[in-house]
Amino acid sequence: MLSRIYHLGYAVEDLETASRFYRDNFGVEPGEPEIVQEQGIIATMFEVGESMIELVQPTRPDSPVGKFLAKRGEGFHHVAFEVDDLEAALADLKSRGVELIDETPRIGAGGTRMAFVHPKGAFGVLTELVELPR
Ligand code: CO
Repeated sequence: MLSRIYHLGYAVEDLETASRFYRDNFGVEPGEPEIVQEQGIIATMFEVGESMIELVQPTRPDSPVGKFLAKRGEGFHHVAFEVDDLEAALADLKSRGVELIDETPRIGAGGTRMAFVHPKGAFGVLTELVELPR
């Protein structure tokens, strides 16, 4: 079901500060920040081999990432796996009784389709499944 780690998501207080840190110290080039209104985030990515790091800043304190920051502080937030067929993956997980946050795909950054699996059933790790646009 899983083709690769698509990205690791880090929750940050300030996207510009975090982008500058990785640009200056690791020589990476984070892309243009993108607002995903529905999730209450602004996010940017940079490539690391065949995967990416996604820096995520909340646009409002009551968004899921805003609440995460208030409770846990900055740091690792989620892993995103690429899948070929998101609907099929969700249906399969649901039939196995895996707890999902999103039972139907949402539109994520970069025009991807994505859904979250609940961290409760995934050993505490918020798990995102991503299907890339064809
Ligand atoms: Co993500």
